[in-house]
Amino acid sequence: MELCFATNNQHKLDEVSQLLGDSFKVVSLEAIGCTEELPEEQDTLEGNSLQKAKYVSDKFNISCFADDTGLEVEALDGAPGVYSARYAGEQRSSEDNMNLLLEKLVNQTNRKARFRTVITLILDNQTYQFEGIANGEILESKRGEKGFGYDPLFLPEGMNKSMAELTSTEKNAISHRGEAVRKLVAFLKQH
Ligand code: IMP
Repeated sequence: MELCFATNNQHKLDEVSQLLGDSFKVVSLEAIGCTEELPEEQDTLEGNSLQKAKYVSDKFNISCFADDTGLEVEALDGAPGVYSARYAGEQRSSEDNMNLLLEKLVNQTNRKARFRTVITLILDNQTYQFEGIANGEILESKRGEKGFGYDPLFLPEGMNKSMAELTSTEKNAISHRGEAVRKLVAFLKQH
């Protein structure tokens, strides 16, 4: 079965294809000829993932799913949350975002945080949502080169490696997106 994953982020496409296995062919936005930026104007992860999935399914008439993820830091009342990508500005730089987060947490002892992903699937004109959460804490400095986004600053609960020190297989096993995708896969397999 062919499903569009409404992203062009190669890291995410690899992560998700690995989890979906051979029964599903995941195609990117580029592969279906969608070159425009998808609208993400809502103030919740649920709203943004729905908006992106609906845009693609309406315009390209294909079954698809879209994700939206936020890093929710307890001491910052859940920020950067839905604004994680552009926390330090519209340039959407991971380095700038991580540096700003470290600044905001200077002298903060409560470093608890979680990544939360919401996936919206639109299949046969029905809408379904799946949530995944990874709990952890924000490190004092960056560690590791793998992954993307805030991974070098995120220490997953019960682990002694940052998210950016994990292989993609290790990350998938414990990640927010991994959990949400496993729920999506379980649903698709029984559908
Ligand atoms: P998106 O909704 O998946 O595009 O995620 C929004 C922002 O959250 C990204 O630009 C990243 O900064 C961050 N993010 C999302 N997923 C991850 C992840 O798996 N690791 C680290 N940062 C992530």
